[in-house]
Amino acid sequence: MKIAPSLLSADFANLEKEVREIEKSGADLLHLDMMDGHFVPNLTFGVPIINAIRKHTKLPFDIHMMVFNPEKYLSELEKVGVQMISFHQEASIHQDRIIQEIKERKIKAGIAINPATSINNIEPILPILDYVLIMSVNPGFGGQKFIYYTLEKVKKLKKIIQNNGYNTLIEVDGGIKAENIQLLKDAGADICVAGSAVFGKPDRKKAIDILKI
Ligand code: DX5
Ligand code: ZN
Repeated sequence: MKIAPSLLSADFANLEKEVREIEKSGADLLHLDMMDGHFVPNLTFGVPIINAIRKHTKLPFDIHMMVFNPEKYLSELEKVGVQMISFHQEASIHQDRIIQEIKERKIKAGIAINPATSINNIEPILPILDYVLIMSVNPGFGGQKFIYYTLEKVKKLKKIIQNNGYNTLIEVDGGIKAENIQLLKDAGADICVAGSAVFGKPDRKKAIDILKI
């Protein structure tokens, strides 16, 4: 199980210190939540901030775009040097095209789905996806409660992936903490995002160790 701490719960006034510390604490990836204030009711950061922190860590950057028109940012993100990009199924029309545009840039392509979105909506594109990001809270904010019915979606998706021999990974995001990490592992999650359960704790190394099962 890989742990991707979400920068959303970090101290935004000290980003350099925060990313250096999280790398030393054993994070596998750094999850970066881009929000546009339209697709989700919150604004976070865009490419300039991602670029500014890129020079302070070697961690792979896992970009979670909660924005309309995600294709607009791909070439800038490629220049920054990011390793994974997911965009929302609900925020885009030509998903196959966007996936191809991400993969052409030698970046792993993922599609994110809200709790209320069925995995049937993404089944046709599973063969070309590197990963699926299943939201276990409604996107927009850190520190929300885990929505338990999303575990069934993780299990169902895992079965489809295994039955078809796909290489698609499953990432889960929202409300993940020590109490539910085992359930996620059992359901078939490969990567778990944790914001408040890591950046919200004083000892980040201990917080990551607890989640790495
Ligand atoms: C929510 C974001 C998450 C968020 C998770 O919209 O996509 O990545 O930072 O935060 P926690 O782990 O606190 O729920
Ligand atoms: Zn996220």
